[in-house]
Amino acid sequence: MRVAEKLNRFIIRPGARSLAAFGNVVLAAHSPHAAACLDSSRHRTLLQRRAHPCLGLGRRSATVYRGCMPRRPARGRLTSASARPRLSAPCLAKQLAGKCACRSNVMPEASTLPEDFRCFYVTRADSGDVRAAVATRPLGELPAGDVLIRVAYSSLNYKDALSATGHPGVTRKFPHVPGIDACGTVVQSADARYRPGSHVLVTGYDLGQNTWGGFAEYVRVPGDWVLPVPPGLSLRESMIYGTAGLTAGLALRALAHRGVEPGAGEVVVTGATGGVGSLSVAILARAGYTVVASTGKQAEHGFLRELGAARVIGRDELHDTSDKPLLAARWAGAVDCVGGATLGTIVRSLRRGGCVAACGLVGGIQVPLTVYPFLLRGVDLVGIDSAECPRAVREEVWAKLAGPWKPAALDRLASEAHLEDLPDLIATILRGGLRGRVLVVPQPR
Ligand SMILES: NC(=O)c1ccc[n+]([C@@H]2O[C@H](COP(=O)([O-])OP(=O)(O)OC[C@H]3O[C@@H](n4cnc5c(N)ncnc54)[C@H](OP(=O)(O)O)[C@@H]3O)[C@@H](O)[C@H]2O)c1
Repeated sequence: MRVAEKLNRFIIRPGARSLAAFGNVVLAAHSPHAAACLDSSRHRTLLQRRAHPCLGLGRRSATVYRGCMPRRPARGRLTSASARPRLSAPCLAKQLAGKCACRSNVMPEASTLPEDFRCFYVTRADSGDVRAAVATRPLGELPAGDVLIRVAYSSLNYKDALSATGHPGVTRKFPHVPGIDACGTVVQSADARYRPGSHVLVTGYDLGQNTWGGFAEYVRVPGDWVLPVPPGLSLRESMIYGTAGLTAGLALRALAHRGVEPGAGEVVVTGATGGVGSLSVAILARAGYTVVASTGKQAEHGFLRELGAARVIGRDELHDTSDKPLLAARWAGAVDCVGGATLGTIVRSLRRGGCVAACGLVGGIQVPLTVYPFLLRGVDLVGIDSAECPRAVREEVWAKLAGPWKPAALDRLASEAHLEDLPDLIATILRGGLRGRVLVVPQPR
């Protein structure tokens, strides 16, 4: 018997139309022999093996595989290796749902899902021209993944603007859907940690870079990218934070780990009215630090004081282009969203043992520095990588963001936009003109 024939025998299709539409399959091998067939088949690389004893038919257990198949098996029927009576797909789904304690592994009927979804769709022509517009695409075009999420909110980050305008350092694969953040409700899950109906969030990894992202009504992602929305945060609040909040939280954590505690002295935040900046001001102040906010926006000093800044300074104060290796020691710590000469100025003006968490590059990528601040003042320059930071660290920081660091003014940081508003907002964020956080609502107005 050819491998393909054997494969057909083991196909369980709870929701045959969903399989045909989305290319998802659930294969259950009811014997070691059947599992061996799958393990050695040419489809192996497309399938994830999941030992899941409760998904077996009858009393027998099964080794379950999930994945994306390149071809469409015959519709509407279940066949099993042992010539069991044929079941319709909905009937099988009900049986599995009744037997399986882990309902998240049962795919919902295709009829509960739309055939297509709205998204902010970015294309690149052969000439290199990048265009972005709201579009409707078939749900089957979403990338393969364990967890399908109906997106309630995404948010706009500087990186999204780079992705949407075709910056090759962020996105190389087109057509593309940007959005490095997403939160919402699980619709389908092949990952036992997430049940349909639960509230989850995703930030970073490859979401919105080369994997279609949160500027869409749906995202499909690997289970390891997903976190439950922590108790203490609503879906909306989780995206007011989003990547910007996680980055601010990681920066605060880095300062504290290097001994920059509340009471150590002034901590300066640059790019303070931006997403990472405004959240850094707010959570540092909430955690008890004395925060100095640096901004280029004269009109927003009041906003920054409302967030908890003790003082507000102009961004020119932190732009020293002299070649002095050390400047007057001012700061116990810093969260820098700007990079370039600003980061160089801060490192040279840290107090002995001070620390700067480097987050951003809106002001440039070259940092003019000598080794003197490190050798003569023992300062630390710490890099923050929110996209790939380990899961345990994410969980720790999200719990703090939902609890002791959560600012009373969190909601005041946010405005809401729809997909149609994104072109204007992207142009604004690229020229440094946004204030606070913009929530992106992918559902139609
Ligand atoms: N490391 C990570 O994991 C991570 C995560 C998220 C973001 N980031 C980076 O952090 C930076 C900020 O991201 P964001 O999403 O918060 O962007 P954002 O909302 O646009 O904030 C950037 C802010 O920087 C200031 N600014 C803009 N252009 C400037 C310039 N030429 N010189 C000096 N200041 C300037 C502006 O604030 P003022 O007008 O108040 O000065 C602006 O609002 C970006 O470089 C982004 O790539 C890094």
